Amino acid sequence: MQSQVHLSWGKLPIYEPGLDDLLQKSRSRITFSNKVNRTLLNGSELVIIAVGTPPKDDGDADLTFLHDAVEEVISCLEEGARTVVAIKSTVPVGTNDMLVEKFGSMLPGHRVQFVSNPEFLREGHAVYDMLYPDRIVVGARDRDAVGALREAYGPILQRSFVKPDFITDGTEKDLPYFIVTTPKSAELVKYASNAFLALKISYINEIAMLCEKVGANVEDVALGMGTDSRIGRSFLNAGIGWGGSCFPKDTSALIRTGEKHGSELSIVRAAVKVNVSMKDYFLQNIESALGGLEGKVIAVLGLSFKPNTDDVRDSPAIELVDRLLKKGAIIKATDPIAIDNARKVLPESGKIVYEEDVYKALEDVDCVLITTEWPQWSKLDFERVARIVRQKFIFDGRNCLDKELLEGLGFIYKGVGK
Ligand code: UDX
Repeated sequence: MQSQVHLSWGKLPIYEPGLDDLLQKSRSRITFSNKVNRTLLNGSELVIIAVGTPPKDDGDADLTFLHDAVEEVISCLEEGARTVVAIKSTVPVGTNDMLVEKFGSMLPGHRVQFVSNPEFLREGHAVYDMLYPDRIVVGARDRDAVGALREAYGPILQRSFVKPDFITDGTEKDLPYFIVTTPKSAELVKYASNAFLALKISYINEIAMLCEKVGANVEDVALGMGTDSRIGRSFLNAGIGWGGSCFPKDTSALIRTGEKHGSELSIVRAAVKVNVSMKDYFLQNIESALGGLEGKVIAVLGLSFKPNTDDVRDSPAIELVDRLLKKGAIIKATDPIAIDNARKVLPESGKIVYEEDVYKALEDVDCVLITTEWPQWSKLDFERVARIVRQKFIFDGRNCLDKELLEGLGFIYKGVGK
């Protein structure tokens, strides 16, 4: 309800660079409603459903919102309507077929087509990823349905849209692929892609652990590996692990799908295990360096699960703060935009304070943790930081600071895998 009010005012309820401006510019062409109704759907050739599919306790995706949305849409369609219903939500393999089975008999005149059209955009880069995707995947049973999606995506496929001013880089890339397949394959493309990216990160994190043991530098190893075009440099940044609203939920859901179909997916399981162990490793390092955590004052820089978003869902930073608090540490946390959201999951108390001003967060602390690689952190005045902290320990969980500079100022610097 609140989101609808904000959107109707032309205000976004989330932080997403560039989106606010686009919303303002397109206001006259968008109607927001928190209820599907006949007027809203009247004559629609294409309906896109993009509701959340949060994880259940067993890791499976909860499809309640999806079922409710489909039911509402179907019940509002005109008799004999020709409508393509595209499912953009991330849903387990077989969901599209299940929707046809479940709602097929409700479809007036059977002229409604369910299509799978997974979404690959990243938070913080959503507008760019929407306009300049690598691929658009359509899982359909029928040629007409594919045509409706191809037409809707026409300006993106031909890059004939008006480029938003804030997008300055990456506009020269190749035009997107338009991949047509079955609904099941399209559904699996989404999970398989996210799980692959997650395991790429877990792989470099495991290599980072080995680097520490043998005295190598994971950043050099990642560069050496990543310049092989078959491997690629992206998603090889070692650190305290992946989080967010997608990788944790999608890897769990993929593992559950595998279980249901007798497929072990051992590589995905290993990626999840490594991801958990990264936080254990990071905490142990801090605990042993500080000689215990009870009563230690710790500055935590970064609360969102990655930079350029205020999203703290499954944020490695939040998990670390929670575990540090349980071990008796006192936390001074800061983030450029995610403090409000962090407060909702870890309320302020005698043990944790949130500081808007990063230098206030750094005053009189026993150590500094970098938990999200906001570009602001590498621009800090570290001479000033050196004067205001109690002890000069920096644990850089995102490998984003300059080790030599910090060591030159007398800090004990510890990154991941270097
Ligand atoms: C991801 C997918 O990238 C996107 O295609 C899909 O649609 C949704 O899920 P998102 O969750 O927004 O997007 O974030 P992403 O940029 O992929 O990062 C996910 C996590 O991996 C973050 O916690 C990030 O810090 C971490 N990460 C990323 C690393 O630890 N190392 C890396 O090299 C890259």
